[in-house]
Amino acid sequence: MLELDAVHSFYGDTQVLFGVSLSIAAGEVVALLGPNGAGKTTTLRAILGLTPARHGEIRFDGRVITHAATHDIARAGIGWVPDDRRVFPSLTVARNLAIARKPSRFRAWSEAECFEIFSALGQLMQRECENLSGGEMQMVAISRALLGGPGLVLFDEPSQGLAPKLVQDVMNTIGRLKGEGIAVLLVEQNVHSALAVADRVVVMDHGTVAHAGPARELHEDDAMRMRLLGV
Ligand SMILES: Nc1ncnc2c1ncn2[C@@H]1O[C@H](COP(=O)(O)OP(=O)(O)OP(=O)(O)O)[C@@H](O)[C@H]1O
Ligand SMILES: [Mg+2]
Repeated sequence: MLELDAVHSFYGDTQVLFGVSLSIAAGEVVALLGPNGAGKTTTLRAILGLTPARHGEIRFDGRVITHAATHDIARAGIGWVPDDRRVFPSLTVARNLAIARKPSRFRAWSEAECFEIFSALGQLMQRECENLSGGEMQMVAISRALLGGPGLVLFDEPSQGLAPKLVQDVMNTIGRLKGEGIAVLLVEQNVHSALAVADRVVVMDHGTVAHAGPARELHEDDAMRMRLLGV
């Protein structure tokens, strides 16, 4: 579903990704882990064309998207749950969700399904997003990605700042996406939650891939996990 082949990305003259390669199959969850500043968010930004790859190639769903415009990449079926949520603050939850809808070759989730996942969401529909709590905003950000009909969802630290129950809802949602054959790239600092839901793990360091392998291996091998992730 997604393939990055030796991606190099820059902010101005400063290079931050040095030949990042990874792939995700349909129905596969890949956790992207690593220390602060390793290049995880920039990898998502490269996929989305926000910090485009200067060298290397990115393919999604059989198409080269390396130099495509971000709105075309979104329409191709890539959903994004950004680390800062980026809901429209002056619009209601209902409006934020309504404008997330777009034609897609993948299945678009219904609002009813989002309410099923996030039971508190239904009561928030007429609230302006600027008045939501961080966790409530995250429910909107995730629902928005699902309503857009994604074939791949990029999650950037979705559990950050959330109460344990909501972290569980988010991880269950990822499990559900997987069950539907949707690909997931999950950036997380919460290593144990990520390893519990992921099939494979990519560990980044200083803009490179330091390790790639099955999640189970890192889950079970305490010494290896400590060496790569320090937990
Ligand atoms: N807009 C920018 N301009 C210049 N450098 C940037 C910019 N955004 C990020 N960087 C740098 O790029 C590197 C990778 O940052 P990135 O945000 O991708 O890391 P990350 O792995 O997501 O870290 P974190 O876990 O803290 O979110 C860092 O050294 C960061 O300082
Ligand atoms: Mg980041």
